[in-house]
Amino acid sequence: MTQPEPQSDALVFFGATGDLAYKKIFPALQGMIRRGHLNVPVIGVAKAGWNLHQMKARARDSIEKHGGLNPAAFAKLSTLLRYVDGDYQDPATFAALRKELGSADRPLHYLAIPPALFGVVVERLGKSGCALGARVIIEKPFGRDLASAQALNRILLSNFDERSIYRIDHYLGKEPVQNLHYFRFANSLLEPLWNRRYIESVQVTMAEAFGVQGRGAFYENAGAIRDVIQNHLFQVLANLAMEPPAGTDSDSVRDEKVKVLKAIMPLDAHKVVRGQFRGYRDEKGVSPGSSVETYAAVQLEIHSWRWEGVPFYIRAGKCLPVTCSEVIVRFRRPPPIFEALAPSNYMRFRISPDFCIGLGVRIKSPGELMEGSPVELRVCHHDEPNAMGAYERLLTEAMKGDATDFAREDYVEAAWRIVDPVLGDATPVHDYDPGTWGPREAGQGPAPPGGWQDPVLDAGSGSCA
Ligand code: BG6
Repeated sequence: MTQPEPQSDALVFFGATGDLAYKKIFPALQGMIRRGHLNVPVIGVAKAGWNLHQMKARARDSIEKHGGLNPAAFAKLSTLLRYVDGDYQDPATFAALRKELGSADRPLHYLAIPPALFGVVVERLGKSGCALGARVIIEKPFGRDLASAQALNRILLSNFDERSIYRIDHYLGKEPVQNLHYFRFANSLLEPLWNRRYIESVQVTMAEAFGVQGRGAFYENAGAIRDVIQNHLFQVLANLAMEPPAGTDSDSVRDEKVKVLKAIMPLDAHKVVRGQFRGYRDEKGVSPGSSVETYAAVQLEIHSWRWEGVPFYIRAGKCLPVTCSEVIVRFRRPPPIFEALAPSNYMRFRISPDFCIGLGVRIKSPGELMEGSPVELRVCHHDEPNAMGAYERLLTEAMKGDATDFAREDYVEAAWRIVDPVLGDATPVHDYDPGTWGPREAGQGPAPPGGWQDPVLDAGSGSCA
């Protein structure tokens, strides 16, 4: 049993005037206060020429637009907020931060800044004494391939020890992803079936009905494999495929996830299809000759006792027909006693827009014949008042020193090792029309037996913007 970690006594976030702070961090801070999880100084750092008053106005606006203001919690947040303005290259900024930290000696530093600045901020935190006794949260992307991830890890590890480094992947904070883990290990009924003997294939789809939303310059350096497959969707895969952990402590859980990735061979080109939606090259910040993928589908095998021979398919794309992420686990077909080609049973885990778990089975249709039809037994959560936002959950956990839902160094490197051979232009990129399920070639490349099961939403989910 590991000892409980001490609570952080200040929360510092770099990038206080940025987009992530505006959309996610301020609402998360208010949520933490509402649940009684935040009562320490919260110091925003940015280079904007702002003062504290301006940052509080930004916080108010952010929370009003993203979730709604709770007057009491916001009043409390206002008393906790501090602001340090300055260049991240300038030691004076960090001297001012050290001063603002006052007697706090276990701060949590959250680097909600572009990856190019991670190294310099980490080094300045070290040199200014702000890293002493501190934890650090690093936003994704953690590098852009194996070599750059290793270089970033070296910088981090020269200023913080691994136990103090929290690599955030907001997918791990999502209720449905938490539930995937919970559902697997809180019920005994799945375990006897959850293996190569009964499961035919697994498919994971992350579909977004919108484009790059003004993030063209960022996306040009990413593409679907780096942006969501190597991180968010591998985490989903790890939750689906991992062995039961020896305990609920962070290392036991993360040990099992790393084992899944280590059992996957690096991808080769014929297990990948890449696509780009027509119109992407006209986006601001995108090169007119760009070959960056906005769609990718990959096939993986996990070479383990449990999974040998079961193909896992992952696809992700922008400008697809719906916004929905889900997993379909297909069971092997029953022998043909009633219908010659009865479709197989499946489990559906829907991650967004709502949480749903469904079990696809066949039942006999009323009447004389022994014939049936497919039904899905389903439980869903919609707008649960107690649901915790992903950033609120993860910030709360990092403040407590619980790293279970953060990526460890070995995990991140194992994930890059899998995708490294197919990054960039290692495979061709094929065009597709916005609002379709990716390029025509997706049908000829790696695809589940029986085809992809496209998510269908009950109500319209909007189209590509
Ligand atoms: C981000 C990616 O990490 O995750 C985006 O950079 C993607 O491209 C987003 O749209 C999806 O997250 P969510 O929580 O909106 O499903």
